[in-house]
Amino acid sequence: MKHKIYPILLHFTLLGLSLSALLSCTNRKEEVVVVATQHPNPYNITVPQFFPTQMNIPADNPLTVEGIKLGRYLFYDGRLSGRTESDSLMSCSTCHLQSNSFECGVNNFDNGHPFGLSGIPTQHSMLPLINLVWNNSGYTWNGAVYNGNPTTNNRTLEDIVLIVIQLPSEINGSAQKTVETIASIPIYPPMFEAAFGSPEVNIDRICKAIAQFIRTLISSNSKFDKYMRGEVQLSTQELNGLVLFTTEQGADCFHCHGGGGNVLFTTNLFYNNAKDSVFNDVGDRFHVTFNTQDIGAYRAPTLRNIAYTAPYMHDGRFKTLDEVVNFYSEGLVASPYTSTFMHKIPNGGAHLSPQQKSDLIAFLHSLSDEDFINNASFSKPADLP
Ligand code: HEC
Ligand code: HEC
Repeated sequence: MKHKIYPILLHFTLLGLSLSALLSCTNRKEEVVVVATQHPNPYNITVPQFFPTQMNIPADNPLTVEGIKLGRYLFYDGRLSGRTESDSLMSCSTCHLQSNSFECGVNNFDNGHPFGLSGIPTQHSMLPLINLVWNNSGYTWNGAVYNGNPTTNNRTLEDIVLIVIQLPSEINGSAQKTVETIASIPIYPPMFEAAFGSPEVNIDRICKAIAQFIRTLISSNSKFDKYMRGEVQLSTQELNGLVLFTTEQGADCFHCHGGGGNVLFTTNLFYNNAKDSVFNDVGDRFHVTFNTQDIGAYRAPTLRNIAYTAPYMHDGRFKTLDEVVNFYSEGLVASPYTSTFMHKIPNGGAHLSPQQKSDLIAFLHSLSDEDFINNASFSKPADLP
């Protein structure tokens, strides 16, 4: 996604206002009624064992059962595009498929390189929508959307929804068209009432509901998780792969992708992982921080469910995990911007044996969570057209 400066979002006007401030604010009468009468049911995330407790949930958008349900419907409803003709429908689920850990997969679009309703390709390959409630350092490949962003209003998952609706390479629509279309569909006003206390459909509520749904997309039941909880044993090959992954003498992956103590399998931080010596992507981390250390740097994505999310890297240059592992084994390209965590740079890679490569890949497969990609609460509601 390209990140542009958008006008102050409507919902920030409510941010930080206390209930008493709302009550004294005459042009917010409707919202006052909302606060006084609505009773959506709070939804508490049960933090899986070993997962961090610090979550990224804005104070003005607590999770509720009704909000999450509404968000799920909107996430899957092609009319979110503000259009109703069958050839111009697009929703989040057009690209973010549950079967691919909410990426589009290498067999869809142009070999996993999606494009929007305008036909314009997205700037980067996809990112999965999993465990984002634990990302406190910045969304998207370059982290341009982060809490406390002083220069733009791109801060939260809520903001991403609005960006996506407008972005030519994604939904290519407008907030107004989306609101009008969603409001005209009979199932929605009662769902907005249940979630937010009045049937009013507005863009703030649409963004909030979808963001709530995304925060519930939690993957924590891979074979590796079951092993950590003492429920199953990993195979010898998977265990060998785990050791390679988490040791500097081995493949040395853990500094950036976690593992061991960091069960998110990402630090959510940004690194140049030595793929290139020439850099010309205006969507890299450098174009967010303007710190030369960030040239050619991107967020290290989670390696959970990595077997479902080819193609790999921000530009989707690798189609298989074999290609990725061959790259880290013997394909590293040094540059002045290479992360200091790429310890194998002097040798051009970790030089793994064929056996070690297949061990490492077997371990990466143990991070696949079939329950997640089949979880009925994350799937398309049966009564949506
Ligand atoms: C045309 C395909 C497409 C559609 C439609 C789409 N996305 Fe995405 N999404 C992407 C791509 C590509 C990225 C990676 C963008 C980047 O970082 O450059 C992405 C990234 C994201 C991220 C950031 C994830 C992270 O780890 O930081 C979120 C959140 C997201 N999308 C939510 C949504 C929502 C919500 C919708 C629907 C309103 C949506 N997307 C619709 C393609 C799409
Ligand atoms: C210096 C930090 C660092 C180290 C060490 C590192 N990676 Fe990465 N990894 C990254 C970054 C950053 C990306 C994304 C780069 C990009 O998109 O251009 C990435 C991307 C990947 C991807 C593709 C993810 C996706 O969703 O597209 C895989 C798979 C991967 N790394 C596996 C590994 C393995 C296996 C090792 C150990 C052999 C390893 N990484 C070592 C930082 C690192």
